[in-house]
Amino acid sequence: MLVCGGRVIDPTQELDRRLDVRLAGERIVELGEHLRPADGEEVVAADGAIVAPGFIDMHVHLREPGFTEKETIATGSAAAVAGGFTAVACMPNTDPAIDTPAVIAQIVRVAEEARLARVYPIAAITKGREGRELVDYAALSAAKAVGFSDDGDTVRDSRVLFDAAWCARGLSQRFISHCEDEGLKTAAVPQTAEDACVARDLTIARATSKAWHIAHVSTKGAVELIRWARGSGVNVTCEATPHHLYFTDELLRRRGGEAKVNPPLRTAEDVAALQQAVRDGTIDALASDHAPHSADEKRRAANAAPPGFSGLEVALGAYALAISDLPLQRYVELLSTNPAKILGVGGGSLRVGAPADVTLFAERAWTVDASRFYSKGRCTPFEGSCLPRHAVATIVRGRLTMRDGVVYA
Ligand code: DOR
Repeated sequence: MLVCGGRVIDPTQELDRRLDVRLAGERIVELGEHLRPADGEEVVAADGAIVAPGFIDMHVHLREPGFTEKETIATGSAAAVAGGFTAVACMPNTDPAIDTPAVIAQIVRVAEEARLARVYPIAAITKGREGRELVDYAALSAAKAVGFSDDGDTVRDSRVLFDAAWCARGLSQRFISHCEDEGLKTAAVPQTAEDACVARDLTIARATSKAWHIAHVSTKGAVELIRWARGSGVNVTCEATPHHLYFTDELLRRRGGEAKVNPPLRTAEDVAALQQAVRDGTIDALASDHAPHSADEKRRAANAAPPGFSGLEVALGAYALAISDLPLQRYVELLSTNPAKILGVGGGSLRVGAPADVTLFAERAWTVDASRFYSKGRCTPFEGSCLPRHAVATIVRGRLTMRDGVVYA
């Protein structure tokens, strides 16, 4: 396949120029100017588009096994490629939880049958995500888990988290923390729930030398703590979501359950601190926390609705809306190169020999209409918003899986 006429942006080669990209089998085999299509070679026109290494959403909920009424691996990976993502890492709050090699194998098999995005399972930190017994980290690592997380819940017992990190400290997969101290969520300063938990987890990361990742950072205090920890040598990375980078808690007051998410939407001061942290490099990755729920559930009042938004099909444009001055090199790094590094998976580069995973996007405004999502989850705070950037085509393993919004299963 020849991807022709696009503006190639690849942070790993400091590339930003008009180039053609040739893919053969599942690899990138050539970059050059005015490459000629060989006989029978498929040509993907990229005029007016930006050609980047495939985007990786390192934080999604695919709901299978267990909650297939909300999403399946097939619908979630269709949503991924529709949104410009060639790969996703899926969280273990499924039923059963992803806490054995058998569940990983099942997810990988179903994802391969779907033939759309690559799906990388993240295994639980504790059995059943119950916060008590440790899983077999070595076995899950050998089964190709790309991280460990009880996401959706915090590991409440600090001793359990310490022992888990100690036990897994020799493995490359990061611990990915969901930081919310339940007891502090209703405190007069609700951000304390996140800040206190981030401080605890960074302290455990430092003591155990475990490589760590803080999921969906949403407070100014958490950003400051991560800067401090990094400065003192802790191996920590972190991510921010589109909704925390754009909306404030005012939306929750207006929209109730439809605006409910964990961690919750914060103040304008937190949003500004988060945007700044993306610009200055404190935030390493952008991740949607795609968390599909049924429309009925999300229509409930805030106290009764489940938390979370459908993110995969708006994320690429929503990041550009939230931080319009972000240089494109940095944007691609946050969506592709860095998530690949953090997860320890292939991709994130258009170098010759890299996987043939490519995202094409354009600076073209469009209006979000969730009724057209491939995801079963249709609740997004970006509904009706005009987003300045659009996914144009998604190539996974050298195969065109999406072009102009149409997914080719
Ligand atoms: O809002 C959220 N929804 N935050 C989480 O951490 C979990 C997620 C879900 O699974 O619905």
